[in-house]
Amino acid sequence: MEREVSALLFCLLLLPPLSSLCGLSQQRERIRDAKERELTDAELEAIVDLNDIDRFDEYLQPMLVRRVSGSAAHAAVRQHIIDSLESLGWTVETDDFVDAIPEVDDEMQGTLNFSNVIGTWNRDGGRNLVLGCHYESKYFSATSGFMGATDSAVSCAILIDIAASLTPFLQEQQIETGLQLMFFDGEEAFLRWSSEDSLYGSRHLAQLWQDTPHPLNDSCTMLDSIVRRRHFHAIPPHLVFRGEKKLDEAGIQRGIFVPQELLVVLDLFGTELGCSGCTRVLNFFEITSETYQEISTVESRLEFLGLLEPHQNDRTYFHPDPMFAEGFLEDDHIPFWERGVKVIHGMPFPYPPVWHKETDNADAIHWVTVENLLRILRGFTAQYLGIQPLSSPESSPPLFK
Ligand SMILES: *[C@@H]1O[C@H](CO)[C@@H](O)[C@H](O)[C@H]1NC(C)=O
Ligand SMILES: *[C@@H]1O[C@H](CO)[C@@H](O)[C@H](O)[C@H]1NC(C)=O
Repeated sequence: MEREVSALLFCLLLLPPLSSLCGLSQQRERIRDAKERELTDAELEAIVDLNDIDRFDEYLQPMLVRRVSGSAAHAAVRQHIIDSLESLGWTVETDDFVDAIPEVDDEMQGTLNFSNVIGTWNRDGGRNLVLGCHYESKYFSATSGFMGATDSAVSCAILIDIAASLTPFLQEQQIETGLQLMFFDGEEAFLRWSSEDSLYGSRHLAQLWQDTPHPLNDSCTMLDSIVRRRHFHAIPPHLVFRGEKKLDEAGIQRGIFVPQELLVVLDLFGTELGCSGCTRVLNFFEITSETYQEISTVESRLEFLGLLEPHQNDRTYFHPDPMFAEGFLEDDHIPFWERGVKVIHGMPFPYPPVWHKETDNADAIHWVTVENLLRILRGFTAQYLGIQPLSSPESSPPLFK
């Protein structure tokens, strides 16, 4: 993926106190208390026991192919994602649309069919924690063999594997917030990264959901399942911008705002993290800084408890310190962020050495890092949702296969 770094001061925290929420799941307005829900040491151990690298690999392998949007291989990968989630009992929808692409060459021009996949586990259709990735691989030329193992097959397999391991708990426990996975199509630019040539899928889905009434309350939109809308007044529009593009005007007028639930986009995972000189994930967004730090706290607790696979750990994978002033990178979180969704951009930076090279294939995967990422991200997801991993749902039906 290609990205632009643009300086951005994130000023949303300067907003005045908020009121009047969208009437979705109002009984759940309580503020999450991270401490209240922090997994115990024993629970972290139980989370680590849920790891199964062979299961992960079964989800990953079918994605390790060149899968350019619109191609047969891409459709097969999409079907693999759909089948995997459906066999877990998840609700799966697709968001199919056609969009114009720039003229790259004789093979790639005109319009293309795109399709986002959305998998949801949600007790009552209310709010969700959303994890996202892009499942297509970038088109370079008709003869290019680029498959994007880390861009972003590994991230997508992590999402499915988290779903597979946590579904029995979601089934049996009274989990208030749902879990939703978004597999975006067309994240990559075809020719040159721009606001039209990039993020095809996430731009489409964010707009669609902003325009779609929520089935539980038609004065809310689908975005309210990951956003809660609040009225606010004094947001100086010049403080909220990305380059020249203002925060969605309609969103400002309608008072879309963001408080609790969250979209976490994973991208470019799979190469080694943690060594000095290695790339690592940064804490970019002030508004989600504390939630981001929960991820890095899960990491350091697992490390402290000896529950990570031995690895070079000169530096943590998830760098906890705020880096807000660094600006930020464009990825599938952007169209949602522009509409007021709280986001975390889970992506190593600087980009891994194999980025956009044909060497970004199965050989680029650093398995110890992947195993540890699964432990960390599974732990974070379970903790965020309030899953109790020790009350083991022994009696539940087989998870998958
Ligand atoms: C729908 O949401 C609106 C806006 O928050 C709220 O005033 C209304 O009571 C809600 N309706 C229902 C049926 O929950
Ligand atoms: C694209 O989608 C349309 C329906 O929207 C369908 O008729 C057409 O066959 C599709 N094209 C390809 C190449 O799959």
